Amino acid sequence: MPMQVVETTTELRTRVADWRRSGDRIAFVPTMGNLHSGHLQLVSRAQLQAERCIASIFVNPLQFGQGEDFDGYPRTLDEDAKQLREIGVDLLFCPAVAAIYPSDMAVHTRVEVPGLSTILCGGSRPGHFAGVATVVCKLFNMVQPDIAAFGEKDFQQLIVIRRMVDDLGIPVEIMGVETQREGDGLAFSSRNAYLDADERRRAPALYRTLRVAAQRIRSGETDFDSIEKDALDELRKAGFEPEYCSVRSSVDLSTTRPGSKDLVILAAGRLGRARLIDNLRVTLP
Ligand code: PAJ
Repeated sequence: MPMQVVETTTELRTRVADWRRSGDRIAFVPTMGNLHSGHLQLVSRAQLQAERCIASIFVNPLQFGQGEDFDGYPRTLDEDAKQLREIGVDLLFCPAVAAIYPSDMAVHTRVEVPGLSTILCGGSRPGHFAGVATVVCKLFNMVQPDIAAFGEKDFQQLIVIRRMVDDLGIPVEIMGVETQREGDGLAFSSRNAYLDADERRRAPALYRTLRVAAQRIRSGETDFDSIEKDALDELRKAGFEPEYCSVRSSVDLSTTRPGSKDLVILAAGRLGRARLIDNLRVTLP
């Protein structure tokens, strides 16, 4: 069967109900489109987990703050649909904003994940993670998947979604997929399109800086403040306006305690017009 493209919840539900009646498991990959190899890897991994794979493309206004790039966010639906069709996605759900937020978005019910949504990226993007959690919760209710795939590229988002699913008892298994990168280490991101040629040359410094920090931690350094400060200096030298660099627990993003073994170094910064984020996990023996 060729991939079906649907815009309404009614059509989506009809198709999902058919599949469920046949006993098929359903995997789901939510995206905002402008697909790259990172997204496609999520799809490939999701396809291994279920008989049916549904992808969604929805640029979610609720997760963009004032002055952020909602209007300019790259929208490439035809090209995206072609790529999803080629890799064998069964259904693409691409609702209009009015299908997700039929009335005033300002008074729409929100899903808040306290604590986790105000640290790191949540510090500079107030309301962002509530926007993400709300739309993902809605999409889960619409699609009713057995399993859903999220990229580790957006590590904090992955942790927020896991917490939401646990707290609300949502019966969806969350699968994390490792970050896909260009040959020079830059993580694939739709926002890389905002980089000019010079910025694109500088951009791999973000991952390089994380690797240096990870190496210092692995070799036994415990002064994380100094590692974080040096990383910020490196990013500045490379032309970034860094926002944060922080060593955290990879389980719950709490600040680390002596003896913590499952760590993640997360960083965010601006390079020209683009706000880039990346992270690297460090597991100590
Ligand atoms: P979007 O930025 O389109 O990303 C969709 C999914 O692709 C997310 O789970 C993200 O972590 C993953 N992804 C992005 N770049 C990746 C890379 N280089 N390697 C691996 N995975 C990558 O994240 C969102 O959309 C939205 O917040 C969404 C969850 C759809 C809710 O609106």
